Amino acid sequence: MNILITGSKGQLGSEFRELAPQYPQHQFFLTDVDELDITHSEKVYKFMKSNKIECVVNCAGYTQVDQAEDDKPGATLLNSTATKYLAEASSRVGALLIHISTDYVFEGKNFKPYTESDTANPKSIYGKTKLDGEIEVMFNAKRAIIIRTSWLYSSFGNNFVKTILEKGKTEKELKVIYDQIGTPTYARDLAKVILEIIPKVPSKVRGEIYNFSNEGVASWYDFAKAILEIKGLNCKASPILTKEFPQTALRPQYSVLNKNRIKKEYGVEIPYWRDSLKECLAKL
Ligand SMILES: NC(=O)c1ccc[n+]([C@@H]2O[C@H](COP(=O)([O-])OP(=O)(O)OC[C@H]3O[C@@H](n4cnc5c(N)ncnc54)[C@H](OP(=O)(O)O)[C@@H]3O)[C@@H](O)[C@H]2O)c1
Repeated sequence: MNILITGSKGQLGSEFRELAPQYPQHQFFLTDVDELDITHSEKVYKFMKSNKIECVVNCAGYTQVDQAEDDKPGATLLNSTATKYLAEASSRVGALLIHISTDYVFEGKNFKPYTESDTANPKSIYGKTKLDGEIEVMFNAKRAIIIRTSWLYSSFGNNFVKTILEKGKTEKELKVIYDQIGTPTYARDLAKVILEIIPKVPSKVRGEIYNFSNEGVASWYDFAKAILEIKGLNCKASPILTKEFPQTALRPQYSVLNKNRIKKEYGVEIPYWRDSLKECLAKL
């Protein structure tokens, strides 16, 4: 299959870049904004047509959650409008679109893991523009699936794991939020699952949503504590409340995802978050 990866220098995209040689049956077109700026609809279509793209995995996104609060046009352009262009171009060339979305589409007031059919009610600009992107996929792509994931990290790019590692080396104590609950997700696990399901996606699938994160549940405090412990850093993690660490954008207080659908329909096995964290930390 000819597979286009957009945003391939980001966290998730870089995992595809690294995994690609293990999948010689596919030809990968690994692009980022310099090679293929997805905010240009005609360029997207021409690229896909001339390279006979059969599947697009959209790893590009406006992911700076706080910055998005002051830059709604920027976040909308990348997370919603450009997603529409990818959906339209995929339909025109007959390609499957796999689009990545987020747990931040939920308000976060649940007390049990969110299913795909739970009502989305984003409280941040980032979450709203990602939900708009999902809607664009549903309306404009003839063959597409949307994968909602959460708390993504990788050995590539900037993320929570790297911040904690860096600070943990120089500081004696780190105060970390414990009243936001979710599940960390190793981007490598997500990339592997996407590559596993691509050949199995039915010919008729129109914007179906699937949740994917690692297994288990944690607060940011638990996540930080695990990072420090696994790396043996002499730094204490102390739990604090969200209100003690004000951020520009509102985050869901609870955004654990129920992954029964992807497990049942595609037979995927999902690693426990701490096991995947160990695997990632071994590379750092
Ligand atoms: N990070 C998380 O915690 C998280 C959680 C849930 C869901 N997600 C979703 O998962 C997906 C992947 O996230 P990620 O963390 O891997 O993102 P990321 O590391 O921020 O990577 C996004 C990539 O897209 C590139 N990009 C920016 N503008 C572009 C354009 N116009 N055309 C093509 N590429 C462009 C970025 O380049 P520059 O760096 O040069 O801008 C970057 O390389 C996103 O859809 C995100 O919303 C992420």
